[in-house]
Amino acid sequence: MSQPVKVGFVGTGGIANSHLRNLVEMEDVRIAALCDIDESRANAAVERYGGQAYTDYREMFDGADLDAVYFCLPPFAHSDAEIDAAERGLHLLVQKPVVLELETGIRIAEAVEKSGVISCVGYQGRYSNVATAARDFLKDKTIGMVACHRWGGIAGGPSHWWRVMDKSGGMLHEQATHQLDMIRYAAGEIVEVYKIDAMQINVDQENHTIPDAEVVTLQFESGAVGYISTSSALINGGGGSRTDFIVQGHYTVQLDRGDVRIVPEGAATVDVPDSRAQSIDEAFISAIQTSDQSVIRSSYADGLKSAAVSIAANQSSREGRPVRVPAIS
Ligand SMILES: NC(=O)c1ccc[n+]([C@@H]2O[C@H](COP(=O)([O-])OP(=O)(O)OC[C@H]3O[C@@H](n4cnc5c(N)ncnc54)[C@H](O)[C@@H]3O)[C@@H](O)[C@H]2O)c1
Repeated sequence: MSQPVKVGFVGTGGIANSHLRNLVEMEDVRIAALCDIDESRANAAVERYGGQAYTDYREMFDGADLDAVYFCLPPFAHSDAEIDAAERGLHLLVQKPVVLELETGIRIAEAVEKSGVISCVGYQGRYSNVATAARDFLKDKTIGMVACHRWGGIAGGPSHWWRVMDKSGGMLHEQATHQLDMIRYAAGEIVEVYKIDAMQINVDQENHTIPDAEVVTLQFESGAVGYISTSSALINGGGGSRTDFIVQGHYTVQLDRGDVRIVPEGAATVDVPDSRAQSIDEAFISAIQTSDQSVIRSSYADGLKSAAVSIAANQSSREGRPVRVPAIS
Protein backbone atom coordinates (compact mmCIF):
# COMPACT_ATOMS: atom_id res chain seq x y z
CA MET A 1 0.00 0.00 0.00
CA SER A 2 1.21 3.52 -0.76
CA GLN A 3 1.75 6.11 2.00
CA PRO A 4 -1.52 7.47 3.41
CA VAL A 5 -2.54 10.85 2.02
CA LYS A 6 -2.54 13.34 4.93
CA VAL A 7 -5.60 15.56 4.65
CA GLY A 8 -6.58 18.85 6.30
CA PHE A 9 -9.84 20.81 6.14
CA VAL A 10 -10.57 24.54 6.13
CA GLY A 11 -14.22 24.75 7.20
CA THR A 12 -15.77 21.86 9.12
CA GLY A 13 -19.51 22.53 8.58
CA GLY A 14 -22.13 20.54 6.68
CA ILE A 15 -20.37 19.42 3.51
CA ALA A 16 -17.02 18.93 5.29
CA ASN A 17 -18.68 16.32 7.49
CA SER A 18 -19.97 14.55 4.43
CA HIS A 19 -16.45 14.34 2.91
CA LEU A 20 -14.96 13.37 6.27
CA ARG A 21 -17.40 10.47 6.66
CA ASN A 22 -16.21 9.15 3.29
CA LEU A 23 -12.52 9.78 3.94
CA VAL A 24 -12.37 7.97 7.31
CA GLU A 25 -13.57 4.84 5.49
CA MET A 26 -10.60 5.00 3.08
CA GLU A 27 -7.55 3.19 4.44
CA ASP A 28 -5.06 5.20 2.39
CA VAL A 29 -6.19 8.51 3.97
CA ARG A 30 -5.26 10.06 7.32
CA ILE A 31 -7.20 13.01 8.72
CA ALA A 32 -4.33 15.18 9.98
CA ALA A 33 -5.85 18.58 10.85
CA LEU A 34 -9.23 20.32 10.87
CA CYS A 35 -9.63 24.10 10.91
CA ASP A 36 -12.74 26.21 11.49
CA ILE A 37 -13.02 29.79 12.74
CA ASP A 38 -15.75 28.38 14.99
CA GLU A 39 -13.61 26.55 17.55
CA SER A 40 -16.46 24.37 18.78
CA ARG A 41 -17.02 23.06 15.24
CA ALA A 42 -13.32 22.33 14.76
CA ASN A 43 -13.19 20.48 18.10
CA ALA A 44 -16.37 18.52 17.41
CA ALA A 45 -14.99 17.39 14.05
CA VAL A 46 -11.67 16.33 15.59
CA GLU A 47 -13.54 14.32 18.20
CA ARG A 48 -15.42 12.52 15.43
CA TYR A 49 -12.72 12.07 12.77
CA GLY A 50 -9.35 12.61 14.50
CA GLY A 51 -6.50 15.01 13.71
CA GLN A 52 -5.53 18.29 15.32
CA ALA A 53 -7.95 21.24 15.70
CA TYR A 54 -7.08 24.75 14.46
CA THR A 55 -8.99 28.03 14.19
CA ASP A 56 -6.55 29.73 11.78
CA TYR A 57 -5.64 28.10 8.46
CA ARG A 58 -2.13 29.67 8.46
CA GLU A 59 -1.34 28.02 11.78
CA MET A 60 -2.65 24.74 10.37
CA PHE A 61 -0.50 25.03 7.23
CA ASP A 62 2.55 25.91 9.38
CA GLY A 63 1.96 23.32 12.09
CA ALA A 64 0.43 20.26 10.46
CA ASP A 65 2.05 17.78 8.07
CA LEU A 66 -0.34 17.86 5.11
CA ASP A 67 -0.52 16.61 1.52
CA ALA A 68 -3.97 17.97 0.66
CA VAL A 69 -6.59 20.42 1.89
CA TYR A 70 -10.37 20.45 1.48
CA PHE A 71 -11.82 24.00 1.36
CA CYS A 72 -15.41 23.66 2.57
CA LEU A 73 -16.20 27.35 2.93
CA PRO A 74 -19.25 29.45 2.11
CA PRO A 75 -18.85 31.39 -1.18
CA PHE A 76 -17.98 34.72 0.51
CA ALA A 77 -15.19 33.14 2.63
CA HIS A 78 -12.85 32.07 -0.20
CA SER A 79 -9.71 34.17 -0.09
CA ASP A 80 -5.96 33.89 -0.09
CA ALA A 81 -6.11 30.60 1.82
CA GLU A 82 -6.29 28.60 -1.41
CA ILE A 83 -3.41 30.60 -2.88
CA ASP A 84 -1.35 29.98 0.25
CA ALA A 85 -2.11 26.24 0.07
CA ALA A 86 -1.20 25.99 -3.62
CA GLU A 87 2.06 27.89 -3.05
CA ARG A 88 2.95 25.40 -0.32
CA GLY A 89 2.39 22.54 -2.80
CA LEU A 90 -0.79 21.29 -1.12
CA HIS A 91 -3.35 19.60 -3.36
CA LEU A 92 -6.79 21.24 -3.19
CA LEU A 93 -10.40 20.17 -3.25
CA VAL A 94 -12.55 23.33 -3.23
CA GLN A 95 -16.30 23.24 -2.71
CA LYS A 96 -18.60 24.87 -5.26
CA PRO A 97 -19.20 27.68 -6.04
CA VAL A 98 -15.48 28.36 -5.82
CA VAL A 99 -15.84 32.13 -5.26
CA LEU A 100 -18.34 34.97 -5.00
CA GLU A 101 -16.41 37.31 -7.29
CA LEU A 102 -14.26 36.45 -10.27
CA GLU A 103 -11.03 38.32 -9.45
CA THR A 104 -10.28 36.14 -6.39
CA GLY A 105 -10.98 33.01 -8.44
CA ILE A 106 -8.63 34.10 -11.23
CA ARG A 107 -5.82 34.70 -8.71
CA ILE A 108 -6.43 31.27 -7.13
CA ALA A 109 -6.54 29.60 -10.57
CA GLU A 110 -3.20 31.21 -11.48
CA ALA A 111 -1.62 30.00 -8.22
CA VAL A 112 -2.96 26.47 -8.81
CA GLU A 113 -1.68 26.45 -12.40
CA LYS A 114 1.76 27.75 -11.37
CA SER A 115 2.19 25.26 -8.52
CA GLY A 116 1.08 22.21 -10.52
CA VAL A 117 -0.89 20.77 -7.57
CA ILE A 118 -3.90 18.51 -8.15
CA SER A 119 -7.10 20.56 -8.00
CA CYS A 120 -10.70 19.42 -7.78
CA VAL A 121 -14.01 21.27 -7.40
CA GLY A 122 -16.93 19.71 -5.50
CA TYR A 123 -19.20 19.07 -8.49
CA GLN A 124 -19.72 15.46 -7.43
CA GLY A 125 -22.59 15.02 -9.91
CA ARG A 126 -20.00 14.70 -12.68
CA TYR A 127 -18.77 11.41 -11.16
CA SER A 128 -22.12 9.56 -11.42
CA ASN A 129 -22.78 6.93 -14.07
CA VAL A 130 -25.80 8.94 -15.23
CA ALA A 131 -23.63 12.01 -15.87
CA THR A 132 -21.05 9.90 -17.70
CA ALA A 133 -23.75 8.33 -19.87
CA ALA A 134 -25.43 11.66 -20.66
CA ARG A 135 -22.17 13.33 -21.55
CA ASP A 136 -20.99 10.43 -23.72
CA PHE A 137 -24.37 10.33 -25.48
CA LEU A 138 -24.54 14.08 -26.13
CA LYS A 139 -20.93 14.71 -27.14
CA ASP A 140 -21.44 14.06 -30.84
CA LYS A 141 -25.06 15.32 -31.07
CA THR A 142 -26.22 18.75 -32.19
CA ILE A 143 -28.12 20.35 -29.33
CA GLY A 144 -30.87 22.85 -30.11
CA MET A 145 -32.03 23.87 -26.66
CA VAL A 146 -31.28 23.18 -22.99
CA ALA A 147 -34.10 23.76 -20.48
CA CYS A 148 -33.47 23.39 -16.77
CA HIS A 149 -35.21 24.10 -13.50
CA ARG A 150 -34.03 23.82 -9.93
CA TRP A 151 -36.79 24.65 -7.47
CA GLY A 152 -36.73 24.20 -3.71
CA GLY A 153 -36.79 25.90 -0.35
CA ILE A 154 -34.34 27.92 1.71
CA ALA A 155 -31.15 26.32 3.06
CA GLY A 156 -30.58 26.90 6.81
CA GLY A 157 -32.35 29.08 9.36
CA PRO A 158 -32.83 32.88 9.60
CA SER A 159 -29.19 33.63 10.43
CA HIS A 160 -27.73 31.35 7.72
CA TRP A 161 -25.43 32.88 5.10
CA TRP A 162 -27.29 31.09 2.27
CA ARG A 163 -30.24 33.55 2.22
CA VAL A 164 -27.98 36.63 2.08
CA MET A 165 -27.07 37.82 -1.43
CA ASP A 166 -23.70 39.32 -0.43
CA LYS A 167 -22.69 36.01 1.13
CA SER A 168 -24.06 33.26 -1.12
CA GLY A 169 -24.66 34.99 -4.47
CA GLY A 170 -28.23 33.60 -4.57
CA MET A 171 -29.73 30.30 -5.61
CA LEU A 172 -28.41 30.14 -9.17
CA HIS A 173 -24.84 30.83 -8.04
CA GLU A 174 -24.94 28.74 -4.87
CA GLN A 175 -27.18 25.75 -5.54
CA ALA A 176 -28.26 25.58 -9.19
CA THR A 177 -24.53 25.83 -9.93
CA HIS A 178 -24.68 22.00 -9.90
CA GLN A 179 -27.17 22.04 -12.79
CA LEU A 180 -25.27 24.81 -14.57
CA ASP A 181 -22.05 22.84 -14.24
CA MET A 182 -23.68 19.66 -15.53
CA ILE A 183 -25.07 21.61 -18.49
CA ARG A 184 -21.55 22.86 -19.29
CA TYR A 185 -20.20 19.31 -18.85
CA ALA A 186 -22.75 17.84 -21.27
CA ALA A 187 -23.46 20.69 -23.71
CA GLY A 188 -20.30 22.82 -23.77
CA GLU A 189 -19.47 26.41 -22.93
CA ILE A 190 -21.98 29.18 -22.28
CA VAL A 191 -20.86 32.49 -23.78
CA GLU A 192 -23.65 34.93 -22.90
CA VAL A 193 -26.35 35.15 -20.23
CA TYR A 194 -29.32 37.38 -19.42
CA LYS A 195 -30.99 37.02 -16.04
CA ILE A 196 -34.18 38.52 -14.65
CA ASP A 197 -35.20 37.81 -11.09
CA ALA A 198 -37.90 38.57 -8.55
CA MET A 199 -38.65 38.59 -4.84
CA GLN A 200 -42.41 38.08 -4.48
CA ILE A 201 -43.00 35.10 -2.23
CA ASN A 202 -40.18 34.97 0.36
CA VAL A 203 -40.88 38.54 1.49
CA ASP A 204 -42.35 36.88 4.59
CA GLN A 205 -38.97 35.28 5.42
CA GLU A 206 -36.58 36.95 7.85
CA ASN A 207 -33.18 38.21 6.67
CA HIS A 208 -33.81 36.93 3.12
CA THR A 209 -32.09 39.11 0.49
CA ILE A 210 -31.63 36.67 -2.42
CA PRO A 211 -34.18 36.64 -5.25
CA ASP A 212 -36.76 33.87 -4.73
CA ALA A 213 -37.12 33.42 -8.50
CA GLU A 214 -34.50 33.66 -11.25
CA VAL A 215 -34.79 33.02 -14.99
CA VAL A 216 -31.61 33.02 -17.06
CA THR A 217 -31.23 32.71 -20.79
CA LEU A 218 -28.11 30.94 -22.03
CA GLN A 219 -26.30 31.37 -25.34
CA PHE A 220 -23.95 28.45 -26.00
CA GLU A 221 -20.71 28.61 -27.97
CA SER A 222 -22.15 25.83 -30.19
CA GLY A 223 -25.08 28.03 -31.28
CA ALA A 224 -27.59 26.26 -29.00
CA VAL A 225 -29.78 28.32 -26.68
CA GLY A 226 -31.15 27.52 -23.26
CA TYR A 227 -32.58 28.67 -19.98
CA ILE A 228 -32.46 27.87 -16.28
CA SER A 229 -35.08 28.82 -13.71
CA THR A 230 -34.60 28.69 -9.95
CA SER A 231 -37.01 29.14 -7.06
CA SER A 232 -36.39 29.11 -3.32
CA ALA A 233 -40.07 29.78 -2.53
CA LEU A 234 -41.09 26.12 -2.08
CA ILE A 235 -40.31 26.00 1.64
CA ASN A 236 -43.04 23.42 2.32
CA GLY A 237 -41.72 20.90 -0.21
CA GLY A 238 -42.63 20.14 -3.80
CA GLY A 239 -39.35 21.27 -5.33
CA GLY A 240 -37.26 19.34 -7.80
CA SER A 241 -34.85 19.59 -10.66
CA ARG A 242 -34.53 18.40 -14.24
CA THR A 243 -32.56 19.32 -17.33
CA ASP A 244 -33.88 18.64 -20.86
CA PHE A 245 -31.70 18.68 -23.96
CA ILE A 246 -33.58 18.89 -27.26
CA VAL A 247 -31.31 17.29 -29.84
CA GLN A 248 -30.81 16.38 -33.47
CA GLY A 249 -33.19 13.53 -34.35
CA HIS A 250 -36.12 15.52 -32.88
CA TYR A 251 -36.25 14.11 -29.33
CA THR A 252 -35.41 15.10 -25.74
CA VAL A 253 -32.72 13.77 -23.41
CA GLN A 254 -34.02 14.28 -19.87
CA LEU A 255 -31.50 14.32 -17.06
CA ASP A 256 -32.11 14.40 -13.36
CA ARG A 257 -29.97 13.37 -10.43
CA GLY A 258 -30.66 9.66 -10.68
CA ASP A 259 -31.76 9.01 -14.24
CA VAL A 260 -31.37 9.84 -17.91
CA ARG A 261 -34.34 9.20 -20.24
CA ILE A 262 -35.16 9.63 -23.92
CA VAL A 263 -38.55 11.18 -24.79
CA PRO A 264 -40.36 9.91 -26.79
CA GLU A 265 -39.28 6.50 -25.57
CA GLY A 266 -37.53 4.44 -28.22
CA ALA A 267 -36.22 7.40 -30.23
CA ALA A 268 -32.69 6.49 -29.05
CA THR A 269 -30.94 4.53 -26.31
CA VAL A 270 -28.60 5.85 -23.62
CA ASP A 271 -26.46 3.20 -21.96
CA VAL A 272 -25.85 3.89 -18.27
CA PRO A 273 -22.95 1.79 -16.94
CA ASP A 274 -23.98 -0.40 -13.99
CA SER A 275 -20.47 -0.58 -12.54
CA ARG A 276 -19.81 1.19 -9.22
CA ALA A 277 -18.75 4.77 -9.97
CA GLN A 278 -15.70 6.26 -8.25
CA SER A 279 -16.73 8.96 -5.73
CA ILE A 280 -15.26 12.44 -5.89
CA ASP A 281 -13.21 11.73 -2.74
CA GLU A 282 -11.83 8.50 -4.21
CA ALA A 283 -10.98 10.31 -7.45
CA PHE A 284 -9.20 13.14 -5.59
CA ILE A 285 -7.13 10.80 -3.39
CA SER A 286 -6.25 8.57 -6.34
CA ALA A 287 -5.23 11.60 -8.45
CA ILE A 288 -2.83 12.63 -5.65
CA GLN A 289 -1.38 9.14 -5.30
CA THR A 290 -0.80 8.76 -9.03
CA SER A 291 -0.05 12.44 -9.80
CA ASP A 292 -2.77 12.20 -12.45
CA GLN A 293 -5.06 15.24 -12.78
CA SER A 294 -6.94 13.51 -15.63
CA VAL A 295 -9.13 11.44 -13.26
CA ILE A 296 -10.53 14.70 -11.88
CA ARG A 297 -13.66 15.77 -13.77
CA SER A 298 -13.66 19.38 -12.60
CA SER A 299 -10.32 21.11 -12.00
CA TYR A 300 -10.17 24.46 -10.19
CA ALA A 301 -10.06 26.33 -13.53
CA ASP A 302 -13.03 24.36 -14.85
CA GLY A 303 -15.03 24.94 -11.65
CA LEU A 304 -14.27 28.64 -11.96
CA LYS A 305 -15.84 28.60 -15.45
CA SER A 306 -19.15 27.44 -13.91
CA ALA A 307 -18.91 30.18 -11.25
CA ALA A 308 -18.14 32.73 -13.99
CA VAL A 309 -21.48 31.97 -15.69
CA SER A 310 -23.59 32.69 -12.60
CA ILE A 311 -21.44 35.69 -11.66
CA ALA A 312 -22.12 37.08 -15.16
CA ALA A 313 -25.83 36.27 -14.73
CA ASN A 314 -25.96 38.24 -11.47
CA GLN A 315 -24.21 41.16 -13.17
CA SER A 316 -26.74 40.93 -15.99
CA SER A 317 -29.74 41.23 -13.63
CA ARG A 318 -28.11 44.15 -11.79
CA GLU A 319 -27.43 45.98 -15.07
CA GLY A 320 -30.59 44.90 -16.93
CA ARG A 321 -28.75 43.66 -20.02
CA PRO A 322 -27.18 40.50 -21.48
CA VAL A 323 -23.59 39.94 -20.31
CA ARG A 324 -20.78 38.03 -22.05
CA VAL A 325 -19.28 35.34 -19.82
CA PRO A 326 -15.59 36.15 -19.33
CA ALA A 327 -13.31 33.52 -20.87
CA ILE A 328 -11.24 31.63 -18.28
CA SER A 329 -8.10 29.96 -19.60
N1 LIG B 1 -21.19 19.62 -3.35
C1 LIG B 1 -22.32 19.66 -2.65
O1 LIG B 1 -23.26 18.94 -2.91
C2 LIG B 1 -22.44 20.62 -1.52
C3 LIG B 1 -23.39 20.40 -0.52
C4 LIG B 1 -23.46 21.33 0.52
C5 LIG B 1 -22.64 22.44 0.53
N2 LIG B 1 -21.75 22.62 -0.48
C6 LIG B 1 -20.91 23.83 -0.55
O2 LIG B 1 -19.93 23.81 0.46
C7 LIG B 1 -19.71 25.12 0.94
C8 LIG B 1 -19.91 25.11 2.44
O3 LIG B 1 -21.24 24.74 2.73
P1 LIG B 1 -21.65 24.13 4.16
O4 LIG B 1 -23.06 23.72 4.00
O5 LIG B 1 -20.65 23.14 4.61
O6 LIG B 1 -21.58 25.46 5.03
P2 LIG B 1 -21.53 25.56 6.61
O7 LIG B 1 -21.94 26.94 6.96
O8 LIG B 1 -22.23 24.39 7.23
O9 LIG B 1 -19.96 25.37 6.93
C9 LIG B 1 -18.99 26.30 6.56
C10 LIG B 1 -17.96 26.36 7.68
O10 LIG B 1 -16.89 27.20 7.26
C11 LIG B 1 -16.44 27.89 8.42
N3 LIG B 1 -15.63 29.04 8.01
C12 LIG B 1 -16.04 30.20 7.45
N4 LIG B 1 -14.96 30.99 7.18
C13 LIG B 1 -13.86 30.30 7.56
C14 LIG B 1 -12.45 30.57 7.50
N5 LIG B 1 -11.98 31.69 6.99
N6 LIG B 1 -11.60 29.62 7.99
C15 LIG B 1 -12.09 28.47 8.51
N7 LIG B 1 -13.41 28.15 8.57
C16 LIG B 1 -14.28 29.05 8.10
C17 LIG B 1 -17.72 28.24 9.17
O11 LIG B 1 -17.47 28.55 10.54
C18 LIG B 1 -18.52 26.95 8.98
O12 LIG B 1 -18.31 26.02 10.03
C19 LIG B 1 -20.71 26.04 0.22
O13 LIG B 1 -20.07 26.70 -0.84
C20 LIG B 1 -21.74 25.08 -0.32
O14 LIG B 1 -22.31 25.47 -1.54
C21 LIG B 1 -21.61 21.73 -1.49
